Amino acid sequence: MTGELSPIDKAKFVAAKRSVDYVEDGMRVGLGTGSTAAWMVRCLGELVREDGLKIRGVPTSTRTAELARDVGIDVVSLDEAKWLDITIDGADEFDGNLNLIKGGGGALLQEKIVATASDQMVVIADVGKEVESLGSFPLPIEVIPFGWETSKALVEEMLISMDVLGRDATLRMNGDRPFITDEGNYILDLHLGRIGNPNQLSMVLNQVPGVVENGLFIDICDVVILGYGDGRVEARDINEGTVEEDRLDFLESENLFTDLQD
Ligand code: 5RP
Repeated sequence: MTGELSPIDKAKFVAAKRSVDYVEDGMRVGLGTGSTAAWMVRCLGELVREDGLKIRGVPTSTRTAELARDVGIDVVSLDEAKWLDITIDGADEFDGNLNLIKGGGGALLQEKIVATASDQMVVIADVGKEVESLGSFPLPIEVIPFGWETSKALVEEMLISMDVLGRDATLRMNGDRPFITDEGNYILDLHLGRIGNPNQLSMVLNQVPGVVENGLFIDICDVVILGYGDGRVEARDINEGTVEEDRLDFLESENLFTDLQD
């Protein structure tokens, strides 16, 4: 069964599998969105069902909520949980300071709220997500539909004074209609090429009227778990300054893979 997974999927899986080691009985856990986070939710579900792990999960999107319920995780809202022990989520890019671009799946608003309400954020990623400087991946920003073209024009004008290479903003589409987020908003993808000062850009973007939030996660992530297609995983902890290496044996996970396939 593992032979049917691409190297990228294997990398995502091993990162996700390693990340659930951070989850302990009784924890309130933020559940990220995306294909890597979906592996993590399935691995957690396995622990809940097979090992009796007791956790409450706060999902960052309707699709993660659905998956979490399907695999047996007790799902609660952030307001019910109030504060979280840990959030585990994917990312589109991360740099050496563990700053991130997120929102490729359009869930950046809930993802940022949930991660910020957590003692610890663990990011799980395949090795292709690591970059020297952020910006090759188009930066998503969530804007309210009212006057979105004006917000787009204001963002593009603001970008003239920012340390970025490109300034094009495109409305994310779902077929022939705008993509709609869980909060009923639109997403603009900013094609910046390179972001010289992510901290400054993040603060300035959120001051543009109509912009609800942007996909830059600055000083939020504590640990990145990097997965490789051959089963190696590397956990980098920015606070402890440690790097732990490990290897997941695919053969031992054969049943798990079979169970986890869609
Ligand atoms: C969703 C996200 C995802 O975490 C990000 O897009 C990574 O996705 P994947 O794990 O599928 O590569 O930010 O809004």
